[in-house]
Amino acid sequence: MNLVVLLGVTLLLLAHLSSAKRALIIVDVQNDFLPGGSLAVSEADKVVPVFNKLRKEAHWDKIFQTQDWHVEKHVSFVNNHEGAEVFSTVKLEDGTEQRMWPAHCVQNTKGAEFHPDLIVEETDEKNQTVDSYSGFFDNNKASQTELHEKLQEENITEVYIGGVALDVCVMSTCVHAVELGYKTYVIEDASKGLSKESVDAALAKLVSLGVTVVNSSDIIMPSNKDEL
Ligand SMILES: *[C@@H]1O[C@H](CO)[C@@H](O)[C@H](O)[C@H]1NC(C)=O
Ligand SMILES: *[C@@H]1O[C@H](CO)[C@@H](O)[C@H](O)[C@H]1NC(C)=O
Ligand SMILES: *[C@@H]1O[C@H](CO)[C@@H](O)[C@H](O)[C@H]1NC(C)=O
Ligand SMILES: [Zn+2]
Repeated sequence: MNLVVLLGVTLLLLAHLSSAKRALIIVDVQNDFLPGGSLAVSEADKVVPVFNKLRKEAHWDKIFQTQDWHVEKHVSFVNNHEGAEVFSTVKLEDGTEQRMWPAHCVQNTKGAEFHPDLIVEETDEKNQTVDSYSGFFDNNKASQTELHEKLQEENITEVYIGGVALDVCVMSTCVHAVELGYKTYVIEDASKGLSKESVDAALAKLVSLGVTVVNSSDIIMPSNKDEL
């Protein structure tokens, strides 16, 4: 075991022994982002068993599920901009640079539903993000969702974040979690992104901001298993 790994494991162990309260934030594990969906992220369905295992085999004070939740006429949909190309960026009337996505996660459609095998409990806090990549704020940071408030109510100090897409919504959620003062972990094997290049760039950016990259096996520790 090299020194960095040893240090990481030690820090995780200390974090676990302290009174820190921790939350799991599952970002957008919805049909449209999974293979077969309208904005499919390759292999994204592989995160489902990882989350189901994490839910059962690690200790969480609270589990959150975010859900991308758009109106049909959403400004980010390429079909709502005549002549625009998918994945290009267009300048909106208010000056906002908007990436063009295929229509996805339209409210009350199959594509917006969670993957059928993802365990979703009644006690999970579910939050729908109408106009944002992040679970915390909209894209212009003008309005806040209830996520921060709910985490504070539960006295959560540490957040473990994963889901899809790592290089879009997971990244934005992590960035805001750090800004709001949470000790933030991104779970690499519980996340999938659009491309290897942008995933590598996203992870590097997150590390530079102070986010710790972990795998689920680092979180599921013998001491956690004993709590079952
Ligand atoms: C958060 O989720 C709750 C429960 O589904 C919902 O009532 C509330 O409107 C959501 N808040 C936001 C900002 O999405
Ligand atoms: C959060 O901390 C406050 C202050 O210590 C306490 O009164 C409250 O019961 C705690 N809430 C939970 C859900 O643990
Ligand atoms: C997580 O696991 C993958 C696959 O084994 C590995 O490539 C990656 O480096 C691991 N990440 C961390 C933070 O341990
Ligand atoms: Zn969206």
